[in-house]
Amino acid sequence: MSAVEKAAASDDAIVTIAHVSKFFGPLKALNNVSLSIQPGTVQCIIGPSGSGKSTLLRCINQLEKIDEGAISVDGALIGYRRVGETLHELTDAEIAQQRLSTGMVFQRFNLFNHMTALQNIIEGPLTVLRRPRKEIVAEAMALLERVGLADKRDSYPSELSGGQQQRVAIARALAMRPKLMLFDEPTSALDPELVGEVLNVMRDLAATGMTMIVVTHELGFAREVASDVVFMDKGEIVEQGPPQTVLVAPSQPRTRDFIAAVLK
Ligand SMILES: Nc1ncnc2c1ncn2[C@@H]1O[C@H](COP(=O)(O)OP(=O)(O)OP(=O)(O)O)[C@@H](O)[C@H]1O
Ligand SMILES: [Mg+2]
Repeated sequence: MSAVEKAAASDDAIVTIAHVSKFFGPLKALNNVSLSIQPGTVQCIIGPSGSGKSTLLRCINQLEKIDEGAISVDGALIGYRRVGETLHELTDAEIAQQRLSTGMVFQRFNLFNHMTALQNIIEGPLTVLRRPRKEIVAEAMALLERVGLADKRDSYPSELSGGQQQRVAIARALAMRPKLMLFDEPTSALDPELVGEVLNVMRDLAATGMTMIVVTHELGFAREVASDVVFMDKGEIVEQGPPQTVLVAPSQPRTRDFIAAVLK
């Protein structure tokens, strides 16, 4: 086993990112990123546009392939299987199977527009997990209740506000019973008055012990909910630590400048 793999498989972290680099042509979007996330914690990631935040989430969720390093999720190296001394790339079907343990919520809600809120939520459990309809409808209703939208079960996305659509998107991701939830700027496309309702759902989710990785510019939320904060710039982790340190008294000038710019 390589040192990188050992790091990726070590300790009790639910996500281990070990020396990961990612290129887009000549551009190094991620440069030797290492990060370990413990189960039940909330990892917030902040940083300027183009710093690699989305790319990092997309690599964890295998929407992008990494060029160097290793990532493990829930004890399994992602994208590869080791047979003796060699690593074999997983097939698309195997990757799809691995991706089921991770839920992702995007900036734009990405709901199926021709389906109601309830249909959006049951689609994955029904067609991918092939679970019994009756059971998953009951679960979906409980999820709609949890995100405060029980009365919107039969509404189409076009009939919902942005905040409501995003809450349905969170319920839809949870319906797959993920072990890990990734959020990529889930509130940045919302009108300011709708941000709070989505952050409240995320706060509740964190309180249930869900492991979450959250890219956000909502520094108030990060201060309150994050277990740990990472500041990224130019594909690298510049600073990492508890929210009270990174967000309140950062040690790096780049972090300080970024936070001052966001708070302006
Ligand atoms: N598919 C792609 N092809 C080529 N370059 C890409 C691709 N995806 C991202 N990049 C580049 O990689 C770098 C990191 O992008 P990324 O989307 O991860 O940044 P980000 O921190 O999420 O920024 P933002 O805050 O604007 O969402 C950027 O320079 C971006 O232009
Ligand atoms: Mg992004």
